[in-house]
Amino acid sequence: MTLIATLPGDGIGPEVLAAGLEVLAAVAEVDVEEHVFGGASIDAHGVALTDEVLAACRGADAVLLGAVGGPKWDTTDPRKPRPEQGLLGVRKGLGLFANLRPVRAIEALYDASPLREERIAGTDLLVVRELTGGIYFGAKTRTAQAASDLCEYSVVEIERIARVAFTAARTHVTSVDKANVLETSRLWREVVTRVHAEEFPGVELQHLLVDNAAMALVSAPNRFDVIVTENMFGDILSDEAAMITGSIGMLPSASLGEGGPGLFEPVHGSAPDIAGKAIANPLAMFLSVALMLRRGLGLEAEAGAVESAVDRALADGLRTHDLGGSATTAQATAAVLALL
Ligand code: NAD
Ligand code: IPM
Ligand code: MN
Repeated sequence: MTLIATLPGDGIGPEVLAAGLEVLAAVAEVDVEEHVFGGASIDAHGVALTDEVLAACRGADAVLLGAVGGPKWDTTDPRKPRPEQGLLGVRKGLGLFANLRPVRAIEALYDASPLREERIAGTDLLVVRELTGGIYFGAKTRTAQAASDLCEYSVVEIERIARVAFTAARTHVTSVDKANVLETSRLWREVVTRVHAEEFPGVELQHLLVDNAAMALVSAPNRFDVIVTENMFGDILSDEAAMITGSIGMLPSASLGEGGPGLFEPVHGSAPDIAGKAIANPLAMFLSVALMLRRGLGLEAEAGAVESAVDRALADGLRTHDLGGSATTAQATAAVLALL
């Protein structure tokens, strides 16, 4: 039987994960094993990710994650554990270097976006974010008077994420960097250009500086197909791109490596401001379940069924508070389940 390892985490993480499991159970028969993770794991074990939980994730067919973090564990003391270390640890530990974040403007939600309809209409882009390198994982130093975070990329790390991006492209890839300033970006641009010429000459390639890309994402988002970029730029640009859909509560993600289980999670965080109120938008989680069904378990029909139920529920008027409505998490879940 297929085994899903779940990592509920903190804040709204457990709330949307529970809703996601209801949707999963409606379309597929799987075993589910829950593990303590993030702030909850710091409280129980002193660390955000234990070796046992990482090993359990490695042994599962896929990992479904809620979100981590919260004011309880917020600290600027480098010696204290943070929930986010668990997230980075599981990504690195499973070798999940490719983070896919699809951004699709859904017609029913055009009016929920702060951007005008004529700008966002037809937007269907994919952010391919490098997830296990760059400034997130370089050496860190801290003294009383200074601090540093090292940003490093190797040729192999850039080659493999470039291949993921070119393979996913329908028409063109936009590689986003800061090659006018950063040495890692100059290597990035050189390697992406070479992989393109040698292996994917049929796909169009464009390079964009990250500041310009941030502007283009809100002025003409429908001109993008695949955006490939390094870890931190991808983090920032994908939250920006979320507003094309109307809310960060709509954006799913898949994190994949070379073989082994993938990890599926909403792009949003633990949303401490609404945690415990039972009003979190669970749709990013449902769409993450769909990505898990498709990319993690090879269940394409089931994935399509979940996506289509989400689309139809929105067309029928479903709106959680982040989308300007009043549906609770439970009501949103019931609306989608009724259409499955
Ligand atoms: P956030 O994504 O948690 O929240 C940003 C805003 O979006 C908040 O106003 C929140 O209420 C809203 N929001 C987010 N998801 C929502 C949903 N599903 N439905 C309705 N509204 C939603 O970002 P933040 O506030 O900057 O971070 C809070 C904590 O989450 C921090 O500790 C951060 O490190 C962590 N975080 C975790 C992940 C993750 O686990 N993958 C991702 C991002 C942030
Ligand atoms: C995300 C989050 C994480 C990241 C944090 C919580 C470590 O913002 O998944 O986008 O920066 O990768
Ligand atoms: Mn983020």
